[in-house]
Amino acid sequence: MTKIDVLLGLQWGDEGKGKIVDVLTPRYDVIARFQGGPNAGHTLEFNGMKHVLHIIPSGIFHEDKINLIGNGVLIEPRIFRQEIDELTAKGVDATRNLVVSKKAHLILPSHRMMDAANEQAKGNAKIGSTLKGIGPAYTDKIARTGLRVGDMLAEDFIERYGQLKRQHLLMARAMGFDVEQFRIDGMTLGEYEQVWMESLATLKRFRFVNSEYFINRCLQEDKKVLAEGAQAMMLDIDFGTYPFVTSSNTITAGVCTGLGVAPSTIGKVMGITKAYCTRVGAGPFPTELFDETGSRLCELGHEYGATTGRPRRCGWIDLPALRYACMINGVTELYVTKPDVMNDFETVNMCTAYEIEGQKTDEIPFEYNTVEIAPLLTPYKGWQQSLAGITEYNALPANLKNYLAAIEEQTGVRIAAVSISPDRKDVLFK
Ligand code: IMP
Repeated sequence: MTKIDVLLGLQWGDEGKGKIVDVLTPRYDVIARFQGGPNAGHTLEFNGMKHVLHIIPSGIFHEDKINLIGNGVLIEPRIFRQEIDELTAKGVDATRNLVVSKKAHLILPSHRMMDAANEQAKGNAKIGSTLKGIGPAYTDKIARTGLRVGDMLAEDFIERYGQLKRQHLLMARAMGFDVEQFRIDGMTLGEYEQVWMESLATLKRFRFVNSEYFINRCLQEDKKVLAEGAQAMMLDIDFGTYPFVTSSNTITAGVCTGLGVAPSTIGKVMGITKAYCTRVGAGPFPTELFDETGSRLCELGHEYGATTGRPRRCGWIDLPALRYACMINGVTELYVTKPDVMNDFETVNMCTAYEIEGQKTDEIPFEYNTVEIAPLLTPYKGWQQSLAGITEYNALPANLKNYLAAIEEQTGVRIAAVSISPDRKDVLFK
């Protein structure tokens, strides 16, 4: 029996997971998503083309790989259909190699309405949700009122759908939300519902499986499985910067519940981190830069959300957060992305500890959201040269290697590879 390897983002998302999964895919037989939903945006670039995936695992471009949407994932059928249509237009027939858990929950149009209603009710304390219905759909899952992929095939599906929708409408109206004015992609709730219902037909073309049996059988047959995380460690519902988090367990432990595998089946845990740090949406971000350097990182790194197009907040790499991520997830190897964005920087800073109320600490405090946190920065000499054309880790500039070695030393985890451009060919293994 083989072990299941895990790949996760260690910061606040957008570390370049999609790309690294794509590079690693040839080593695996199965790529499985275990949590999150269309709030994710995994960008892959190859042959001069850019592809953004939201719900579908990043192994979909490799015909001979099985892609599994696990029970822990949320599916919004219309977004799913759009993704399938885009793949079809690119000549990719996903019905060949994508299977879907019967236990994955559905995001209803009214979940998306509730997301908007909840955000509106929060006023200035908005989370900055992607408004894809993630929070409300997971709320219904936990409240035991949700609808699952397998339920679509039941006779009373429409009845149960109507019941849940009515409940959402009641709640939204009670919150003072203007249901009539609400739009999704320019459509009223009723109009969107029609498109959503039509989209179920696309979803039904796929093979629905009891995914816990499916995945365990794969492991027993010695198939190599990669669990592909979405969002990231610091957005985890339990250990992230609550309440500015997503509504799922994005951590290694989430693989067990989101796929139905035992903890003892977990093998390598590959953690992805940018060489700097970004965050999209609200919430604490101790190393955030509000100056020109922050704007440079945003512009040079093309830091705009793949799902929402929002500009990302940018700052220096945060080692207390990274060490925390390595601890919670049992990270066995690091993948560092986008150092090339800082090619021109004279100095590259690294936050190695925090100062809170005059006290130095390297722990993530419970009061992360409410106390003033001053990042303690260690400066590193920039490498000030282009990385284009470098094909080996050892050929990287000495100052960059020095910076990467400091990340290894600070986290106690070895770097497996560094990615120096958006293209899949530019991942240099150490
Ligand atoms: P939600 O999951 O859409 O409710 O969003 C909750 C928070 O997580 C917001 O701050 C989002 O910006 C953030 N978020 C959700 N998904 C992603 C992602 O895939 N990358 C980066 N941030 C995300």
